[in-house]
Amino acid sequence: MTTLIKNISSLLNIRTQHHLLFGADLANLPVMEDAYVLIEDGIIAGYGKMCDLDKLTTPDIVFDAKGGMVLPSWCDSHTHLVFAGSREGEFVDKIKGLSYAEIAAKGGGILNSAAKLAEASEDELFNAAWKRLQEVTLMGTGAIEIKSGYGLTVDAELKMLRVIKKLRQKSSLEIKATFLGAHTYPLAYKENHQGYLKEIKEEMLPVIAAEGLADYIDVFCESGFFSPEEMEDVIKAGLHHGLKPKLHINQLNSIGGLQKALELKAVSVDHLETMTEMDIADLSASATIGTLLPTAAFFLRMPFQPARQLIDHGCAIALASDFNPGSSPSGNMNFVVSLSCIQMKMLPEEAINAATLNGAFAMELQDKVGSVSVGKKANLIITKPIPSLAYLPYAFGSNLIEHVMVNGEIIA
Ligand code: NIG
Ligand code: FE
Repeated sequence: MTTLIKNISSLLNIRTQHHLLFGADLANLPVMEDAYVLIEDGIIAGYGKMCDLDKLTTPDIVFDAKGGMVLPSWCDSHTHLVFAGSREGEFVDKIKGLSYAEIAAKGGGILNSAAKLAEASEDELFNAAWKRLQEVTLMGTGAIEIKSGYGLTVDAELKMLRVIKKLRQKSSLEIKATFLGAHTYPLAYKENHQGYLKEIKEEMLPVIAAEGLADYIDVFCESGFFSPEEMEDVIKAGLHHGLKPKLHINQLNSIGGLQKALELKAVSVDHLETMTEMDIADLSASATIGTLLPTAAFFLRMPFQPARQLIDHGCAIALASDFNPGSSPSGNMNFVVSLSCIQMKMLPEEAINAATLNGAFAMELQDKVGSVSVGKKANLIITKPIPSLAYLPYAFGSNLIEHVMVNGEIIA
């Protein structure tokens, strides 16, 4: 089955070969004007200028982009999309001035989500997560990473990961699963960290590995959560089971987690709201991707990640939504891209690259998605007619997506 998308005003992020974009390279977004894309069986088979379109091409389906732009779907490399209930009560408490500690004392935070998740059946969880996945698909996300971490018991962590596995089976999106058993210490283990670490290593990880339930392992390395040493313990056990680390680092405090994560050769270090000069220098000297989650900083009214400094120091950065009920109750990557330009002073080209190609690298999906390249999946966004690519992040509240294509099929 051959599909032709014609009359594309600008075809964004076209690449004959791809590599992770470090530093200044992030601003290079290859574009072709007045273009077409040819798709065969869901895979990009070619692209070129409309004037060069071979008149003898006889596609099964011709789709007219009507002067809209086409870009690769968003690659959202950090989400907690499986959860059991919203937490707008905490949101209102914060508006009224309650602190994080006061909210936690009222049973809020990650433990609130864990209590809700314990009550939910696998089917209920799946149905709610499926709706969210549909929602973000329609907003242009074509590949996504999803974490566990609201289970915090053997049964509930496995329940979450099985839901992610089912999402993967039913959805045509590219989905990666991450085990985040070390999200916080459950109440029962508050004074017995070793006990919970043992449960993760001896009871959760062997089953997860045996059932192939995760690709990556994550730890929330933060004061009051997991120390760098505790993180190392969990990561080493994960590596033993073939799970590479993608980590929550430097969200609230810089406590040496970044250096430990680099030592452990993390695929990505995520959050990075709180970075010292040394943290920035160390990250820039590594091949690890720094994944920035600006909507979490926005929602928690925290300082934004130092994107400009990171880029100017030569780091490889990606952008992701952190979709979760506590710190980023939105999986809208269009807003993530806008916010990155508005608040972190990223150039539109940098933000698009960070949310597509570098996001794909942060899930090790760069051979399948993240750019318009022959052989990659036709997971594409077709925009409404817009005056320039900068208009995408500029017109931040508008829905500029006209159609979404997944595996070569227009799904909306
Ligand atoms: O990435 N920081 C840790 N975990 C989540 C939020 C946790 C929650 O409040 O549910 C995050 O922001
Ligand atoms: Fe997160």
